[in-house]
Amino acid sequence: MDLLKGKVALITGAARGIGRMIALRFAGEGAAVAFTDLVRDDPMVSLEKELTGLGVKNAGYVNDAGDFEAVQKMVDRIIDDFERIDILVNNAGITRDTLLMRMNEEMWDLVIKVNLKSVFNYTKAVQKYMLKARTGSIINMSSVVGVNGNAGQANYAASKAGIIGFTKSVAKEVGSRNVRCNAIAPGFIITDMTNKLPEQVKEEWIRTIPLRRGGEPVDVANVALFLASDLSSYVTGQTLQVCGGMSG
Ligand code: NAI
Repeated sequence: MDLLKGKVALITGAARGIGRMIALRFAGEGAAVAFTDLVRDDPMVSLEKELTGLGVKNAGYVNDAGDFEAVQKMVDRIIDDFERIDILVNNAGITRDTLLMRMNEEMWDLVIKVNLKSVFNYTKAVQKYMLKARTGSIINMSSVVGVNGNAGQANYAASKAGIIGFTKSVAKEVGSRNVRCNAIAPGFIITDMTNKLPEQVKEEWIRTIPLRRGGEPVDVANVALFLASDLSSYVTGQTLQVCGGMSG
């Protein structure tokens, strides 16, 4: 299938987990893929190889999504290399979980910087090209925790709730130029981020999920594909929950 043929996608934090699967899913639909992560390690190099195997132009770049100046330069370089950016997926994210009582300033600042400021950094840098081209789809990775809150994740929940407000506002600012901006709120998805949780916590989560399983990265990637493609041409400012029914 060629749902994204001729389009260029930029995905942040894509060497592993959900971002990696989005990169592969988009490439499978014909998109050229530029992606970033913190270091050029085996996962980055192997993703480049897999993308090349799918027959699409691709490149992995080292970039800290939370660094404003570095992100502006990164986007200009990707435009030089790929000529355009049609799809931006703000996926990079981290956790520093603990109860508020034990949360220090560093844990708060880092999570807000990597999860929320990064979305501002990349959206600001990319939007000027999308507005000029009068087309674009921006997809921001929020979380059900940003919708409902979660004990032990006040910093993470605040960053993910902030993404939802940002998404709705940007959608209103750029809609008249045919640029769309939506958020995905995944529930419990099995990746490195959730694998570090104790087995008992994981089992408890799964018991509360109506579909009785943790999500796979591809469950999120399929929704990202919908939002990236023209299948969602009249959808903007929305938060799509991909959570097996656990939220709400
Ligand atoms: P992951 O930990 O498997 O992958 C995240 C990637 O982001 C890693 O490759 C990491 O190196 C990269 N990264 C971290 N800081 C970065 C920075 N400053 N700049 C650039 N890249 C950076 O995580 P996962 O599970 O794939 O999560 C992806 C997104 O989905 C995150 O925003 C996360 O908050 C969100 N999410 C994940 C859920 C889950 O259950 N796994 C649930 C809800 C949301």
